[in-house]
Amino acid sequence: MANLEAKHLFAYNRFPDNELKKLLVVAYFPFGVILLLLRSVLALFLVIFGQVLPDTQVTQNFLYNLACICFGITVSVDNLKQKENVSVYIGNYLSILDHLAVSKALGFILPLNKTPLQSLPGLGITNLGSINNADSFKKNLEVVLKNKNTSVYLCPEETPTNGRALLKFNSKYFEFFEKVQPVCITVKRPLDIAISTIGSTYINDVLYFMYAPFTNYTIKLLPSLEKKSISTDGFSEIVRENIASELKITASPLSASDLLEWSKRYLAEERRRAQERTNQLSNSFSSASNPELVRMAAQVKEVLPHVPVGTIYNDLNVTRSIDTTITNILEGRIRFVPETPRPSSPTPSTSQQPSTSGCTSSSTPSRQGACTSSTQFNTGASTFGKSANERTKSIKERKEQLIAAARRRYIEKHNLDIPV
Ligand SMILES: *[C@@H]1O[C@H](CO)[C@@H](O)[C@H](O)[C@H]1NC(C)=O
Ligand SMILES: *[C@@H]1O[C@H](CO)[C@@H](O)[C@H](O)[C@H]1NC(C)=O
Ligand SMILES: *[C@@H]1O[C@H](CO)[C@@H](O)[C@H](O)[C@H]1NC(C)=O
Ligand SMILES: *[C@@H]1O[C@H](CO)[C@@H](O)[C@H](O)[C@H]1NC(C)=O
Repeated sequence: MANLEAKHLFAYNRFPDNELKKLLVVAYFPFGVILLLLRSVLALFLVIFGQVLPDTQVTQNFLYNLACICFGITVSVDNLKQKENVSVYIGNYLSILDHLAVSKALGFILPLNKTPLQSLPGLGITNLGSINNADSFKKNLEVVLKNKNTSVYLCPEETPTNGRALLKFNSKYFEFFEKVQPVCITVKRPLDIAISTIGSTYINDVLYFMYAPFTNYTIKLLPSLEKKSISTDGFSEIVRENIASELKITASPLSASDLLEWSKRYLAEERRRAQERTNQLSNSFSSASNPELVRMAAQVKEVLPHVPVGTIYNDLNVTRSIDTTITNILEGRIRFVPETPRPSSPTPSTSQQPSTSGCTSSSTPSRQGACTSSTQFNTGASTFGKSANERTKSIKERKEQLIAAARRRYIEKHNLDIPV
């Protein structure tokens, strides 16, 4: 496992890519909706009780169990016997409801990280304030530990990941604890519905908890660790290494803020792309647009995703033929600035550099032809509908011929010693 980057630690789609699983997801839809409705009724009760019931151990227990049913949380613990009497349990961060699962397994534990259940006073979740305000945090923590006679649960990663690596811990928390017990969590959902996706909100994630058949947490307790004379940073790192090696994942040098920054950039890029697409469409089709040509342009765009749709439309306006327009483009008779096709795997920010620069700067038509055909080589086709099978075939053949021709031209032009 090489270096994982920020982009590898997010899920991008709620539903799996695999064809068979997609089918199952579709088949599950009516059941999901029914479950969602039933659980919504429970959620309503949860909210009402959470607001009106006093914050006692009995009601907490009741509300936590209700919440687990409501969000379909099931938990299995590998080694409950190893639970020790410590004031803090430290786990890896996978979802906004991790603490519910941990509480269900280990008995009521107060979450230190932000959670959507914080707003229900009956659940007894206290906000200790920001860790950056260490003095007040410490005071609040002492009060809570004493008054509530409970342990706390902390995810020092401070932001959930998809579980492929363990982020850098915020070591500030470790100043306040002498002895901690690490907890390793894994989470799995049937149908591979993602727990969270990049940019999704609490409410979004919670709705998918309620829609999915259930969400299965597995919890494993590790032996507790004591700080003794180790520095705070060193202690934090030791706890992290323990959890990472048990989960067999890398301890990443990235921190929560790195992830946050990357997701912001990614989302901004997505918004920019969407805006660009709408602009393009409205620009090219606003005046006297011909629906037939629009349809044809969309088909050409599927095969040649890097060609701006406006360019395609204008050429279709002249040729009135999909095949002729594709040939024109592939043979380099049309000048345009290629755009990056929407990637299936996310790679934002570095939007358009490598292939485009060579293409736009070239002036001779043959060079351009060679260039464009190589950039579109891996695109299209897969998105083509079954009904258009015939057409796809002929376009594919033509494409292959053209690419071969372009290659030949290129080799001849540069006197390369390669078999044609
Ligand atoms: C756990 O330890 C605390 C003091 O650290 C003590 O007050 C409490 O009674 C202990 N609980 C159990 C179940 O041993
Ligand atoms: C605190 O909780 C533990 C079990 O978690 C219990 O044994 C102990 O009696 C409680 N102490 C107080 C003062 O409520
Ligand atoms: C949850 O996962 C554990 C471990 O993989 C498994 O033993 C358990 O049966 C699962 N529970 C459910 C409800 O699927
Ligand atoms: C299509 O071509 C006609 C002339 O052939 C022209 O009048 C019209 O403006 C063109 N439409 C677009 C959208 O370019």
